[in-house]
Amino acid sequence: MSSPLVIAHLSDLHLGAHVPASVAAIADEVGAFHPDLTVVTGDHTMRARPREFLQAVDVLDKLPVPRLVVPGNHDLPLVSPLRVTAPYARYRRWIGEDNAVARLPGLTALGINSMPWWRWKSGRVTHAQTTTLRQVMGQASPDSVRVLALHHPPFAGGLARLVGRSRLTRALRAARVDIVLAGHTHVPSVHQSRHGPLVVIAGTATSYRVRDVPRSWTMLRVTAEAVEVHERFESEPGAWHTGRVVRHLRRPH
Ligand SMILES: [Fe+2]
Repeated sequence: MSSPLVIAHLSDLHLGAHVPASVAAIADEVGAFHPDLTVVTGDHTMRARPREFLQAVDVLDKLPVPRLVVPGNHDLPLVSPLRVTAPYARYRRWIGEDNAVARLPGLTALGINSMPWWRWKSGRVTHAQTTTLRQVMGQASPDSVRVLALHHPPFAGGLARLVGRSRLTRALRAARVDIVLAGHTHVPSVHQSRHGPLVVIAGTATSYRVRDVPRSWTMLRVTAEAVEVHERFESEPGAWHTGRVVRHLRRPH
């Protein structure tokens, strides 16, 4: 890998509970870093209303391409019969496939839909998804950076524990995943998991639903040796600065 791969990671845009100035500025802010891939890990809307999806599409369309986008718990209707009969219909109509792959030179990324209709807000990973993870990463070149994107933090505990976590843990190892990108908490974090991958959580980029930390998004610079994570915090609506930079050496595959 000669030059660093740049991944822009945003999450929890929550259109319908957004700050207009943040929404208006986010595409230029992200675009300034010329990412090789833009990943958005779910909760694009507040209540999965049609008008919120339309607003979300407007924001997503302005973000740099290629993009890898997955749904979150807020992207399923909460109290509508659609929750049971067609939970992903609105997402698929306006946003697109809820499981997707991005293959670039030196990077293979899989996005998975971790939100089942039958849980309140916590996630699950299916057997079919972990099989896909192994297959997709099995086709990646040996030196490829391997990324999994999903809405729910993979190793959360308590009520937030992922259904299917053990099978996901095994698949992450077998697929030699380097980086897991997730959201949901609205609080950015980075930690090296004992299960293998670096786990990067992005905060909320554009929502007023902040939890003790300002709005933020995360920029990753990946080289053959290390992953550098830059957390970009909003100083005032529509203006961001780099708050924290964390550097992790990459583990050999
Ligand atoms: Fe969420």
